[in-house]
Amino acid sequence: MVVPTKSTLSTVIPFIHIILDRFLEFVLGWLLGVFRCVPVPPNKKQEELLSTGAVQLARLIRERKLKSYEVVKAYYDRIVAVNRELNAIVDGPFLEALDEARAIDERFEKGEITEAELKTKPFLGVPFTTKDSTEVAGKLHTLGLVSRRNERASKDAECVRLMKESGAIILATSNVPEVNKWIETRNMLIGQTNNPYDYRRSVGGSSGGEAALISACCTAFGLGTDIGGSTRIPAFNCGIFGHKPTTGAVNMRGCTFRSGDEENTMVSAGPMTRYADDLIPIMKVLIEPNMEKKLRLDEPVDLKNLRYFYIPCNNMIQCNPIGSEEQMLMFKVCRHFTNVSGSEVKLATLPNLNMTGKMWRYWMTQEPANFNKLLGNGATLNPFFELFKKLLGRSEFTMAAIYSLIDALLPEEKEQQIREATRHCKEALISMLGEDGILFFHSSPRTAPFHYYPLIKFTDFSYFSIFNVLQVPVTQVPMGLDSRGIPMGIQVVASEMNDRLCLNVAKELERTFGGWVRPYKSQ
Ligand SMILES: *[C@@H]1O[C@H](CO)[C@@H](O)[C@H](O)[C@H]1NC(C)=O
Ligand SMILES: *[C@@H]1O[C@H](CO)[C@@H](O)[C@H](O)[C@H]1NC(C)=O
Repeated sequence: MVVPTKSTLSTVIPFIHIILDRFLEFVLGWLLGVFRCVPVPPNKKQEELLSTGAVQLARLIRERKLKSYEVVKAYYDRIVAVNRELNAIVDGPFLEALDEARAIDERFEKGEITEAELKTKPFLGVPFTTKDSTEVAGKLHTLGLVSRRNERASKDAECVRLMKESGAIILATSNVPEVNKWIETRNMLIGQTNNPYDYRRSVGGSSGGEAALISACCTAFGLGTDIGGSTRIPAFNCGIFGHKPTTGAVNMRGCTFRSGDEENTMVSAGPMTRYADDLIPIMKVLIEPNMEKKLRLDEPVDLKNLRYFYIPCNNMIQCNPIGSEEQMLMFKVCRHFTNVSGSEVKLATLPNLNMTGKMWRYWMTQEPANFNKLLGNGATLNPFFELFKKLLGRSEFTMAAIYSLIDALLPEEKEQQIREATRHCKEALISMLGEDGILFFHSSPRTAPFHYYPLIKFTDFSYFSIFNVLQVPVTQVPMGLDSRGIPMGIQVVASEMNDRLCLNVAKELERTFGGWVRPYKSQ
């Protein structure tokens, strides 16, 4: 009898991954329909407006070359035209958004808006959206739970309040998986949100409704929250930008029931956009006042003088091997930044990356929220009873939620070992990046899978969640489409408080590689 050694296993396992991946791609593709469908294009007149960035729109409104009403109405109509297929909206589009826009236009006409007011309102008249789990006063706040179908938020989350104060107009709230805890966007209340590049594919999660709306031109920009990739996974799947700020830079009050006073948490809220140029101005609105000096978002960054690194994979045997198109992409990025900086982008490694799954699972147990209670909307659920009901087709929850209930019953991670592993990994990252280093890291070994694929293979999200464990800023950057027409992307990482490095490298990547690509065919 041949006993498989560790080294034969490590050569066989990648093949098993590839075979299972191809098998799922084939079977799910067949079950979900043979054809790839995408949203209809906007009409010619509106296309230009709908594909203009948020900062540009704000400028055009300020210079009175565009009316806020025209902008908000165009996005409103776009939602009405494509949401039936995307299924990304929970509440909205709001009629009050049109009234607000009209009121702004009137004040402009009467000359009531002063320079001083414009300074404090950089997004005056520009529509935005947020995920349902982030509170918007008076609007539905369901978190995807059937038991909360009529619940409304009593006030605005801090990030929503700040956005409104900057003059932006809330247009709608978007779909999430139950209490945000899954890497697809599906629940028993709203259903499943579809990827604008192929309706059969996953938008990712949990800010999946946001990403679908932004990519399909249904909103000028959006707000995401990210505890294990929730901003970046959907941004990646839907081909847009998403920034996970340094932990603590943005107040979390009103996001998924947070008070904003939690310490040492992995979660962070940030902007999701079609254009890199919108990220810094939105971040400036969102950050806490005491963070302005630390983040120095306006300080120019000389890309020539940064040090660049890349890590080709995380060595987790549970993850798919990195695809060949993804490897090629990393190669092109490295070649470009070697050229930009005049010195080689260095091949790097970090200790314990192959423990990402365990580290994230442990640190999730250190978060204040109790998933079971959140899911039960206050009541404690019995995982086995819920599974039993699910099998009988009588559950209020998705299979993904039941996985998470059962996961909580599995043995806990070894506290001491995980804390040590995390500390080593973080120390290595900090000493590598310092105050002037950038790390390029794959977003995922493969592009957006079909719906349900993550129920069978879900560990690939470790490529995102490692940076929640390490609490560093990361920008998810769209990088064109793969041979199937699905968005590719890359993560740009810096050390704490160095968000501006990621955000400026994101701009350079957009300039060089094209950034967001329309999911529809232009007329
Ligand atoms: C390197 O940069 C120069 C100009 O700065 C440009 O002409 C050249 O095409 C670049 N090479 C690559 C491989 O990107
Ligand atoms: C991670 O990699 C190290 C070094 O290759 C190895 O000793 C260890 O067993 C791996 N751990 C896991 C959880 O795969």
